[in-house]
Amino acid sequence: MDNQAKSSGASSFTSAMNLDQQGVSSIPQRYVLPPSQRPNIIHHDEHVLPLPIIDLSDFHDQSRRYQIINEIRNACKEFGFFQVINHGIDQSTINEALKAAEEFFNLPHEEKMCLFSDDVHKPVRYGTSLNHARDEVFCWRDFIKHYSHPLSDWLHLWPSNPPSYRKNMGNYAEAVQGLQNKLMEMIFESLGLNPSYLEEEVNGGSQLLAVNCYPACPEPELTLGIHPHSDYGSITVLLQTRSGLEFKNKNNNWEAVPLVEGGLVVQLGDQMEVLSNGVYKSVIHRATVNVDKKRFSIVSLHSFAMDKKIGPAKELVDDDHHQLPKCYNEFSFSEFLHFISNNDITKERFLDTLKIMK
Ligand code: OGA
Ligand code: NI
Repeated sequence: MDNQAKSSGASSFTSAMNLDQQGVSSIPQRYVLPPSQRPNIIHHDEHVLPLPIIDLSDFHDQSRRYQIINEIRNACKEFGFFQVINHGIDQSTINEALKAAEEFFNLPHEEKMCLFSDDVHKPVRYGTSLNHARDEVFCWRDFIKHYSHPLSDWLHLWPSNPPSYRKNMGNYAEAVQGLQNKLMEMIFESLGLNPSYLEEEVNGGSQLLAVNCYPACPEPELTLGIHPHSDYGSITVLLQTRSGLEFKNKNNNWEAVPLVEGGLVVQLGDQMEVLSNGVYKSVIHRATVNVDKKRFSIVSLHSFAMDKKIGPAKELVDDDHHQLPKCYNEFSFSEFLHFISNNDITKERFLDTLKIMK
């Protein structure tokens, strides 16, 4: 539909980047969170374990691999995320993707608006907040999201400007897709499953790249870059240019995920919680903004194919003995999309709708 952008709220669209460019000295009321949801309090809990940074070098070596898998298991159980270093993606690939992101968000507003949509089913869309059409309180972020795997199916739909965008972002997308294949094998192994568990579905699954821009914000204590949520997929691989990502720990306190130079954050999503029958939990996270500098993130959301139903692995369910009864109903990525089109995910978690109460 040609006037799709108009009918879905483009006329009322103001992005965080627009406000930044206007040089506003306070944030509009629509961005102000109720006091209990503001990001001001960070607790520093004592940890038995430090926040996990896992070195993936030499992971082909058998004894090294065993050690890495142990570290992954501990990190997934304790935190639901970890950071990886020596992950095999060149720094130049990362830098070029970040440059493409920066150039994209610097384009004139009208040009970005050609890709605007509030429809979560669009394969490529520019937008702001979480769901501009539904959010009661907006988030201080702009994004471009696009499907990325297999690249040749989607690349022609990606932004054609800046001219280097498709090549540079595409190289990064492919490199991360390769990394996720390795990570999924190791995560499955850490659960006691065969590393090649659902191999075809993992290799042929969906990859959605969310490229986020969080402009400097005059009142960062009143708002967030992205509201608390867990990701829907199996795993998410996140690259951040500054600290800002925070996760909810086991004591229900928010903690910052420190910026690790050259590192990537790996987060467990809802499909992994369901697949593992709750042995691992998806991590609830949010992003804060800051007063002086833009922050970028490139978030690679991996999941099984759109209509593939994911339920607990039968190896991890033991209904007969009531030791590990099945704790979740199955779901597919498309069912998640249906849910977020019709519900406010800051009020109800999709995952909670799948839990089997016993
Ligand atoms: C996301 C997300 C956090 C960040 O896009 O799902 O959680 O730091 N982003 O950008
Ligand atoms: Ni997320």
